[in-house]
Amino acid sequence: MRIGVPTEIKPDEYRVAVTPAGVRELSEHGHEVLIEAGAGRGSAIEDAEFEAQGAEIVADAAAVFERAEMILHVKELQAPEIEMLRPGQLLFTYLHLAPDPEQTSGLCRSGATCIAYETVEDAQGRLPLLAPMSEIAGKIATQAGAFMLEKPLGGRGILLGGVPGVAAANVMVIGGGVVGMNAAFIAIGMEADVFVFDRSIPRLRELDVTFGGRCSTVYSTTLAVEEMLPRADLVVGAVLVHGARAPYVVKREQLALMKPGSVLVDVAIDQGGCFETSRPTTHRDPTFEVDGITHYCVANMPGAVPITSTHALTNATLPYALALADHGVAAAIRRDPGLRPGVNVAAGKVTHQAVAEGVGMEYVPVEEALELDSRKGS
Ligand SMILES: NC(=O)c1ccc[n+]([C@@H]2O[C@H](COP(=O)([O-])OP(=O)(O)OC[C@H]3O[C@@H](n4cnc5c(N)ncnc54)[C@H](O)[C@@H]3O)[C@@H](O)[C@H]2O)c1
Repeated sequence: MRIGVPTEIKPDEYRVAVTPAGVRELSEHGHEVLIEAGAGRGSAIEDAEFEAQGAEIVADAAAVFERAEMILHVKELQAPEIEMLRPGQLLFTYLHLAPDPEQTSGLCRSGATCIAYETVEDAQGRLPLLAPMSEIAGKIATQAGAFMLEKPLGGRGILLGGVPGVAAANVMVIGGGVVGMNAAFIAIGMEADVFVFDRSIPRLRELDVTFGGRCSTVYSTTLAVEEMLPRADLVVGAVLVHGARAPYVVKREQLALMKPGSVLVDVAIDQGGCFETSRPTTHRDPTFEVDGITHYCVANMPGAVPITSTHALTNATLPYALALADHGVAAAIRRDPGLRPGVNVAAGKVTHQAVAEGVGMEYVPVEEALELDSRKGS
């Protein structure tokens, strides 16, 4: 298969969808890899390093999209990139379609088969291609939140860990999955008082054991959230219902319960945000204020640390990219059923139920859509 890797064009996105090690593996499996000139530069990978492992460097994104059968990407395609997709082409990337009807319609119109990293599942129903970026985003969430709590940046002016004789700050993490656990891990390391809220008791049990009682776990109800908000200095929003738009766990009127200058970090912003007052921001302009509360809502947090995140991402995606390139979508799904929920759009149809509900479009099972596809001969 001919695999294409364009340069990411989302603002402040420095990751690239393959590393030289990945190029080597794909080449050894007999595939051709086309990489847009300069695609790796943001992650400190030069064109020559890709070439040395068998890649062909091409001048621009148009050439990549025209020649490749599968596009490997990091973030969702931007409008000019969607225009270059074509029927039957395979797209493998983060999509986060549930809150984004415009992107979903564009992908449907393209006729391409679009597989979202974030909805591929492993045998235990976990999200192996979201996990590495969630680990990074969780760690950044606490780092960024601690910074934004500084007075000159508009924060309350409190140090997360306190000092002997002065109390530590309270960090509230809502959603104790991969993001939440990593955010709590760093907050504990910074010696804050940490409270993790989740609706899954088995998950709270795991966190309690993992942290050896070093953070409090709380079953997340509206009342429990409202009782904690007045005490919290930093709130990290990290909930996820697979594929679906994020539920609101802090409503606009509940901001009044918080102390002025407290900080909300909405990591779930890529799924539409889990605080009602959130809207996506960028690394260049990461925060805004609502009712005296700082909101940090960067939708591509791992993009800020590409040297870590490019390698972490491609370690996880490479086996799936190889399976898709070796066997094609239909056979790859048969061999690994966890790839099936990854297929969000195929042959012009939305093929993931939660995405279809999120964007208000018809849901068509993958098998049916792929059959449609083969009837069309693409
Ligand atoms: N902004 C970014 O750059 C970035 C990067 C990586 C991940 N993310 C996003 O972060 C979010 C979390 O990802 P994850 O990998 O930790 O997911 P996860 O599935 O590992 O964890 C989500 C947790 O939320 C809990 N939950 C669901 N609904 C809840 C509710 N109403 N109240 C309390 N808890 C609830 C679940 O029980 C689960 O433990 C996702 O939306 C993901 O896309 C964003």
